[in-house]
Amino acid sequence: MPVKAIRLNDYRNYRRSFFEFDPHLNIITGKNGTGKTNILESIIVVSNTKSYRSNNDSDLIRKGAEFARICLNTEDKEYKVVINKKNKSLYIDNDLVKRTSEFIGKVNAILFKPSDLELFTQSPSERRKLLDIEVSKVSTSYIQALLRYNSLLKDKNKLLKELEKDELLLSVINESMVPLIKIIIQERQGFFVIINRYISDIYYLISNKRTKIEVVYKKCCEIEKVNDELERSKEKDDYYHYTTFGPHHDDYSFYMDGYELNSIASQGQKRMVLIAFKFALMRYIQYMTNKTPIVLLDDILSELDKDNQERLLNIIPEDTQVIITNTDINDLDIRKQYKLIELKEE
Ligand SMILES: Nc1ncnc2c1ncn2[C@@H]1O[C@H](COP(=O)(O)OP(=O)(O)O)[C@@H](O)[C@H]1O
Ligand SMILES: [Mg+2]
Repeated sequence: MPVKAIRLNDYRNYRRSFFEFDPHLNIITGKNGTGKTNILESIIVVSNTKSYRSNNDSDLIRKGAEFARICLNTEDKEYKVVINKKNKSLYIDNDLVKRTSEFIGKVNAILFKPSDLELFTQSPSERRKLLDIEVSKVSTSYIQALLRYNSLLKDKNKLLKELEKDELLLSVINESMVPLIKIIIQERQGFFVIINRYISDIYYLISNKRTKIEVVYKKCCEIEKVNDELERSKEKDDYYHYTTFGPHHDDYSFYMDGYELNSIASQGQKRMVLIAFKFALMRYIQYMTNKTPIVLLDDILSELDKDNQERLLNIIPEDTQVIITNTDINDLDIRKQYKLIELKEE
């Protein structure tokens, strides 16, 4: 569902601004610091219910203001995120939405940004964050299982720190965790199956090279072994005073023709693997929701040479809404019709 318009109030550098978008191609230009990324970020906040740029929602409030408001209109609905210093509220058509799971992914956007490359070297927890957000956007059972699991995990870790711990409570927690862990592993497995179905072909379309790209899910255990593993981890948990086993330790890594990506790929190849991964993500969302996500390209086109720029734009399906940011329109070689949004310094 394309974004028709966004109204920003006291959000980041915007006091009161209104932007309208074309259902196909949009380009936002402006010098550094004029607020290009902030606009894309506002769409991500509506898509994911939080920013990828800071863990603290209140960073989104314009300095000196009390609250921020993002109001995003599609053809038939209005999505609103209101952020106060202490909390945030979500609305669809002015009705308060109590559960995140009923808001997340309603507007679905995928962002490409230069710092995505860090994915290959970041900590597992950062990689899991991306995984969790994407799967949460398409699966209500996943987000519910994950939220419940994380809350049990907190209780369990607290319990494991106590000297005289309540063994009965501990086993109740473990029992409650089992079905949740199974859902989490199952949904993550499904995610990687679909990513791997597409990623090599997409890599070929971008790079013009036939290379096998694979994303390997490093899961805590096989689904049928969850019970046993949980039982087996008890001794270790006692020793370390925290939960040593579970999907909160899961990770994934990238392989190119069978070799770990970080050990063989050039910077340019890594960039293309990442773009292929993001497009595979887009296919995953399409597959799961039957809807095409909005594609946001933040400052990444000008990093590619003109051939790769064109190949990248060509693999985006025709009916997709695309929003591109760049400091200078002349660095881009775009041969399609587009709507231009020019940001000026205040
Ligand atoms: N909470 C905030 N209040 C006021 N200004 C902010 C806030 N957060 C970020 N900014 C400003 O937003 C600008 C950065 O916007 P950004 O979208 O990253 O620019 P661009 O992508 O065009 O380079 C900076 O000038 C920064 O000071
Ligand atoms: Mg920027």
